Amino acid sequence: MKILLPSFSSNESSARAMVSAFAAQLNPTFDELSDIKCAVSEAVTNAIVHGYRDVIGQIVISVKIYDDRSIRVEVKDKGCGIPDVEAAMQPLFTTDPDGERSGMGFTVIENFMDSLIVKSSPGKGTRVLMRKKLSPLPVKR
Ligand SMILES: Nc1ncnc2c1ncn2[C@@H]1O[C@H](COP(=O)(O)OP(=O)(O)OP(=O)(O)O)[C@@H](O)[C@H]1O
Ligand SMILES: [Mg+2]
Repeated sequence: MKILLPSFSSNESSARAMVSAFAAQLNPTFDELSDIKCAVSEAVTNAIVHGYRDVIGQIVISVKIYDDRSIRVEVKDKGCGIPDVEAAMQPLFTTDPDGERSGMGFTVIENFMDSLIVKSSPGKGTRVLMRKKLSPLPVKR
């Protein structure tokens, strides 16, 4: 699935709902689905509030499901980019000047998903790739 959204803040909940609906075909547990929704929210919010801070740009969300019951979500923006990705991924690191953010978004994603890869070029944009393998379905008798 591929979703293209303008970076209006209202689209954070749209993105979360669409990814959640797509992931539902895997019959995830309630907790697994909550984790995926939270991780998507964090990545999309980052694209909106940091990547496209003073502009409206396009966010591209690609979701793929694999035979081993893993789900991969990629959130891409063509915003300002991150100068130092390693520093940005540290807990409590934030560049938010208004004190509204806690710098925990990437940490939340790392905790809720099995893997997180962030690739970014200043001035070009950011790609956030996350993956989670869901638990096996219960065997029916
Ligand atoms: N898509 C992005 N484009 C540009 N900068 C980003 C992007 N995503 C994250 N960042 C940078 O990485 C920092 C850390 O992101 P993280 O989500 O961990 O914390 P936060 O967004 O500042 O706070 P929180 O997510 O807790 O509200 C951000 O403050 C910002 O500087
Ligand atoms: Mg954040």
